[in-house]
Amino acid sequence: MLSQNDPEIFDLINKEVALQQDNIILIASENYVSRDVMEAEASVFTNKYAEGYPGSRYYSGCEIVDTIENLAISRVKELFQAEHANVQPHSGSQANMAAYFAVIKPGDTVLGMSLAHGGHLTHGSPVSFSGKLFRFVHYGVNRKTELLDYDEVQNLALQHRPALIVAGASAYSRIIDFARLRNIADTVGARLMIDMAHISGLVAAGIHPSPVPYADIVTSTTHKTLRGPRGGFILCRQELAAKVDSAVFPGVQGGPLEQIIAAKAVAFKLAMQPEFKNYQKSVVENARVLAEELQKLGLRIVSGGTDNHLMLVDLSRTGITGNICEKALDAIGICVNRNAIPFDPQPPRIASGIRLGTPVVTTRGFGPAEMKQIAHIIYEVITHIDDSGVKNKAQKAVLELCHRFPVPDSTPGE
Ligand SMILES: Cc1ncc(COP(=O)(O)O)c(C=O)c1O
Repeated sequence: MLSQNDPEIFDLINKEVALQQDNIILIASENYVSRDVMEAEASVFTNKYAEGYPGSRYYSGCEIVDTIENLAISRVKELFQAEHANVQPHSGSQANMAAYFAVIKPGDTVLGMSLAHGGHLTHGSPVSFSGKLFRFVHYGVNRKTELLDYDEVQNLALQHRPALIVAGASAYSRIIDFARLRNIADTVGARLMIDMAHISGLVAAGIHPSPVPYADIVTSTTHKTLRGPRGGFILCRQELAAKVDSAVFPGVQGGPLEQIIAAKAVAFKLAMQPEFKNYQKSVVENARVLAEELQKLGLRIVSGGTDNHLMLVDLSRTGITGNICEKALDAIGICVNRNAIPFDPQPPRIASGIRLGTPVVTTRGFGPAEMKQIAHIIYEVITHIDDSGVKNKAQKAVLELCHRFPVPDSTPGE
């Protein structure tokens, strides 16, 4: 119907399908969802208003919506072994906002990871609500090891006595030691919040330790490694359940997106299947192979490698910056994002690094052999930035790989 009623939008959807099919996407925060997730997202629940919670709504006609939301809640609780879950946050940022309001007040001191070292905007950046409303003090990675500096976290905690310690990252490639963070939080009587947005798929599959036993409150997105619809959720101990629920609604949101909650429920069920565990294992294995191959070719990986689904490549020795690299790779069909490296002398818009992640390419079936090939393509482009012959060859290799591994369930015109 859309093709006839709104050909302009239909055409753009098909162009995006082609773009996602014909490019190698190494954006660490993205994924291709399953057809089942997309079907649920596009369902009639989009027509429904359901302010409130199951059994206690401000609208009538919510019986089925209640069942859907209860299913999503019970599935995510089972998946992460959590005492309480709220599946209504529209995004990771909204989950974080509600989590803050559940445990702290405006003006309170919070310890969070610096954006420049891999943290997220909502962990106290001055341009985000978080940095405007709360007094954030930032910790980072050690200059030498480029690993999270837990001693610094401890010293800052003792010095500033925060009400809350926040951890979790957008660009950190190593395992996070939640037990150590719990210990530091306990030393100063702070709450501990873990934002597992990037790693929640790995956590669900048991490949990264879970923050749930250690944190008072855990937030996440559903659309990154977890392979669900765009959205967020919050997990917490029973003790904080009422505070979390009222912080989400009516605290920071109105009516929940029940079509997205239906899709979250589908994704949570998929994440409990044995295939999901195998998928996450491949994501991490692919990242390890990609990082090792790039290192063999002479590129420096921040902290010397990766334990998860992503890595930061330091380009400073190559003579090109992150933004130039991002553009050059985009031109041959590889999507990456420029990213600051720790202690980066360049401003964030230019940046000395790129961030690479393997969730998307693993979903389309790429394995270690393709990772090695991609490493070589990236290296050739970076080291021949003005060579059109190299670029043409790289573009052909990218297209050949993309055609060999079609994106599951999104063939144009289907
Ligand atoms: C660690 C972390 N937290 C929160 C978010 C915010 O998620 P959203 O973009 O859904 O608001 C992100 C997104 O990149 C993230 O990486």
